[in-house]
This record gives sequence, structure tokens and C-alpha cells, in this order.
Amino acid sequence: MRGLTAPVAAIPHEAVASIDAAQILDALPVAVLLTRDDRSIRYANPAAEQLFSVSAAQLTGLEMTALIPSDSPLHDVLARALAGGQPVSEYGLFLETPRIGTHVVDVHVAAVSGQGQGAVISISEHSMAHRLDRQLSHRGAARSVTAMAAMLAHEVKNPLSGIRGAAQLLERGLRAEDRPLTRLICEETDRICGIVDRMEVFSDRRVLERGPVNIHKVLDHVRRLAFSGFASQVRFFDRFDPSLPPVLGNRDQLVQVFLNLVKNAAEAVPELGGEIVLSTSYQTGVRVGTLGGGSRTELPLVIAVQDNGVGIADDIRPHLFDAFVTSKTNGSGLGLALVAKIVGDHGGVIEFESQPRRTVFRVRLPIAAGMPAEEE
Ligand SMILES: Nc1ncnc2c1ncn2[C@@H]1O[C@H](COP(=O)(O)OP(=O)(O)OP(=O)(O)O)[C@@H](O)[C@H]1O
Ligand SMILES: [Mg+2]
Repeated sequence: MRGLTAPVAAIPHEAVASIDAAQILDALPVAVLLTRDDRSIRYANPAAEQLFSVSAAQLTGLEMTALIPSDSPLHDVLARALAGGQPVSEYGLFLETPRIGTHVVDVHVAAVSGQGQGAVISISEHSMAHRLDRQLSHRGAARSVTAMAAMLAHEVKNPLSGIRGAAQLLERGLRAEDRPLTRLICEETDRICGIVDRMEVFSDRRVLERGPVNIHKVLDHVRRLAFSGFASQVRFFDRFDPSLPPVLGNRDQLVQVFLNLVKNAAEAVPELGGEIVLSTSYQTGVRVGTLGGGSRTELPLVIAVQDNGVGIADDIRPHLFDAFVTSKTNGSGLGLALVAKIVGDHGGVIEFESQPRRTVFRVRLPIAAGMPAEEE
């Protein structure tokens, strides 16, 4: 039983209530440590044994600093959770111990009261940290798109404008019934130019101009654009936290982000009864750092776009944010790649959860702390 005996009384279902807490923790795939104050380990589950390559018997009673060197950022997370009484999460943290080497992990720490203060620490590998890594590699992928965009601009856009001009000239001499053909040429050349234009955004290397942005205004604007265009049949719901501080961001680029997310949501929902929920909230305790160290940023602003559509196809999930990944006949697969690039440029992260009738894209962004409010 390794020190945990309390039955899980808060879970009402009879069958579950009879399972004790340690059994649940033992079954979790995530490493869990329970500490006595900030020093010694009271309990470790099998996933923790595996992560640290130390048996639970050896881990129990061990000083935290004997397991994880005292200069590890994990101790800082633990101290903050114990001092603040609020759960603290860190994504993409470097966990380095002499025994296991370096792992990139997500850490969640919550203080527990009762017989002497302690904390529950859960450590998982590869989730957000992995996605962050992927997001950084999206930027790498974007770089290769860059060269291609430059080439396309030159080799494709210029001839296309010639083709379009020629079609317009031809149109004048055509009979009315043949005109749809030249119009088709114009529309299709415009569509190709549109794709090349979107790719050119990846090659924009200018430093992002950022300032305080009221995200609710951005979302209102996006909803208006969507409702008067591609999402006119969709019902929109808001769940805004009115006290939300401004985002440190670039307004136009944030419009791009949420326009793409709302467009995808609108394309996924059923024709009848389609619903999109836009929500904002403030969640402290989530910080990220770039892989490779450097400063860590707090990302307390959470903006979510939820839809009741079909859900994301399993086969594209691992590559969802890569360029040219699409399940749509007319899709270019650039929407989410662009979203990932812009969110990354803002120092934020994007996550998604998806099941039929409930897909959520959640963007976490930094606040514009201590900056004057956005100009009206
Ligand atoms: N809300 C969603 N529900 C279900 N599937 C989604 C959702 N958002 C994205 N997807 C899936 O992810 C794929 C990639 O999206 P992305 O926006 O990058 O490209 P696209 O929408 O196919 O094309 P484009 O945005 O360039 O017009 C989509 O084709 C779709 O299969
Ligand atoms: Mg899209």
C-alpha cells in the first residue's frame, strides 16, 4: 500500500468507490510521486519506478534531491505549488538525473493538505513537450516551404497573371454561352494565386510587431466574418471571461489564427445543427520554454474553438499541423500549418482534443503584462 490508504470516497459509482487510491495511481501510465512536504517521497507509482529506473521500495522515503538534483527546475515547480497552494504545470521541462539522463517532460504539481503538507507530482513524457518539439519542427518545415513559395511566386504567379489576362481578352470576343469557360480559367488561376499567397506568409521573416490585443474583439471580428461568409448556417456561442487581460500579440495575425480555426470548425460541422463555441479563460501555472532552454514564458490566456463536427480523422492526427495535410477535396492543408507558425511566433502553444461531436482547438498565449490597454 506504500502509504496511501484513503478510499476514493468522492467518486460516487459503487464499483469505483471500492477501489482505493493507490490502485488507481498504480494503474496510471503517468509517473506519480507523492511527497512529504518538499523533501522526501512518500509514494511512487509503477510508472515512476519505470521513469526513474528505481524500485518503489527504494523510492519510498528517499529525499527528493537524492532522486532529482537540487538545481533541477522541477524543485522550483514544487516550491511554487507548495507556496501558492495552486496547481502548477510546466510543459517541455528538462528533467535531468544522473541515472536516466535527460528527458523532456510535462510536470503537474498540486499541493495536498492533511497529515503534514505534501504534493502530488505527475510527470509525463512526450505529450505537450512532444507537440512543442513538433511545432518547432513545423517552423523548420515552414522554412522549406519558404524556398518553394519564393520559387512559385516567380515561376507560377507571373505566368498565371499572363494566362488570366489572355483569358480576359478572349472573353470579349466570345459568345455568351462560351464565357463560362474563360471565367473558369480566371477563377482557377485566382485560386492558385491564393494558395501561393498563403504560402508566402511562411517566408515572412520580419520580427513580429506585438502589442496589447483585446482577444474578445478579435473573436467578435472573426465571428462576424465567418457568419457573413462561410459559416452563415452555424450557431455561435460565446463563453468569454470578461476580466481577461490583453494578449501580447499581433492583432491581424491573431485574426488569421482564429479565422482558420473557425473555418475548419465550420467545415466539419453538420449542415443542420452546426455549433461553434468560442471561449476564453485565464489559467495560471502553465509555462513553456523553448526546447534547448532559454527563458520560460507564462501562458495564462486560453482561447478555445469547439465544434460539434465529425472529429479529426485518425490517420492525419500525427501530422495535423504539417503543411499540405488535408482530408478535403479542395483543401490546401495550409490552414493549421499557418496557425501553428503564428502561435509559435507568439511564443504560445496549440493543442487539440477530438472525438465525434466534440473537437476543441485550444490556443495558449502570453499576456501583455504592464502594457497600456489597446487603443480603441
Ligand atoms: N475542427 C476540425 N474538425 C475536424 N477535422 C479538422 C478540424 N480542423 C482541422 N481538421 C482536419 O485537419 C485537416 C487540415 O486542416 P487545415 O486547416 O490545415 O487544412 P484544410 O482545412 O484541409 O485546408 P485549408 O485550410 O488550406 O483550406 C483538415 O483537412 C481536416 O481533415
Ligand atoms: Mg483549414
